[in-house]
Amino acid sequence: MIKRHFTLTQTKAPTKTEIHIEHDLLYSSQWVQILRSYSGRVAIITDTHVKQLIADKWTQFLKKQGIDATLFSFSAGEESKSRHTKERLEDEMHQLKFGRDTLLVAIGGGVVTDLGGYLASTFNRGISLVLVPTTLLGMVDAAIGGKTGVNTPFGKNLIGTFYPPKHIFIDTSLLSTLPEREWRNGMAEIVKCGLISSPPLFQKLFTHQAKWQSRDREFLQEIIYDSISIKKEVVESDFQETGVRRVLNFGHTIAHAIETLENYRISHGEAVAIGMLVESYLSYRMGLLHKQEWERIEPILQLFNFSLQISPSITLERIHSCMSTDKKAKGARPRFVLLQEIGKVEPFDQAYCTEIEEPLLNEGLTWMLERLRNPA
Ligand SMILES: NC(=O)c1ccc[n+]([C@@H]2O[C@H](COP(=O)([O-])OP(=O)(O)OC[C@H]3O[C@@H](n4cnc5c(N)ncnc54)[C@H](O)[C@@H]3O)[C@@H](O)[C@H]2O)c1
Repeated sequence: MIKRHFTLTQTKAPTKTEIHIEHDLLYSSQWVQILRSYSGRVAIITDTHVKQLIADKWTQFLKKQGIDATLFSFSAGEESKSRHTKERLEDEMHQLKFGRDTLLVAIGGGVVTDLGGYLASTFNRGISLVLVPTTLLGMVDAAIGGKTGVNTPFGKNLIGTFYPPKHIFIDTSLLSTLPEREWRNGMAEIVKCGLISSPPLFQKLFTHQAKWQSRDREFLQEIIYDSISIKKEVVESDFQETGVRRVLNFGHTIAHAIETLENYRISHGEAVAIGMLVESYLSYRMGLLHKQEWERIEPILQLFNFSLQISPSITLERIHSCMSTDKKAKGARPRFVLLQEIGKVEPFDQAYCTEIEEPLLNEGLTWMLERLRNPA
């Protein structure tokens, strides 16, 4: 059994986060001991899918261990990541007299950890937080880095806080029920980590693709560990996202536009894969990324079965209009994270993103439309 553990220290943040990666961690005595070390009651927050698959049984187990745990849930899905859900859960917790000494454990995908983290950061002015991500995306991305939040009718993640948890428990056995689409969402972020920061991770994904196909336990833990290490390094140097943390947005300027224009019909991972392909192409066309390196990028996305297709209704004008509201945009002009080589982002005077001259940007987007537009 692999046992991996490290500490995430967020500069300017009040807490250190202990991250534990293991198989069959949820029911371990180590976990129970940590929960026991908190004097207050435990509020477990989850969504309806994870409740049924994992959290109901786990709450019963904790109660049998003498831990005063109560389970709260909300409907699974991005629509639930709202101020309304947060308010409802807060009221339920207040009705049951949960106080300042509460430990909140958010167990689920990124929706649960974002919402649960936000709730913990404001409940009675802040209570202790532990995250148990149950999707691959949650394990390598959403639970890591201390960002919490909810969506509003004006956009995604517009309300939230930076609030690092005390512990993150990554139990890879929880992935056994994960649908294929969710695996790919996580994999897109792992490929991204290789592309922005780690040629060895990129190479590992190529070489050991069969281990991925068989969901080899050790391999999974290794690539999760590698990806978290990369995000950890970036977050530690830029907790509030003012500079280098932007590298994590590689592929995302285009991805967010595609997701919006596709009306979220394609998954986030598929959109990020397309975004990474096109932003790599732009890096190559700007003379930053060598042709040989650029040519290695599409094959890895194909190897992991990303469909790399967009619908015919997407046009140049519509993409431009969407990208102008991207969070990195400056004066409505979109900015892009670009690669210098596989494993290295172009720093652009520590801004880690840049505007692209319109003719070149149009050339890149036209390349994407001609190549990826699904004629069906
Ligand atoms: N805070 C951050 O830094 C950060 C980073 C990336 C993404 N996010 C957020 O994360 C969210 C997306 O996260 P996600 O992809 O995990 O989505 P999600 O939380 O909606 O989970 C996807 C689906 O998988 C189900 N599920 C969860 N665990 C399961 C399991 N073990 N077996 C079977 N089904 C399971 C969920 O119930 C849900 O239906 C978005 O809201 C995004 O904004 C946050």
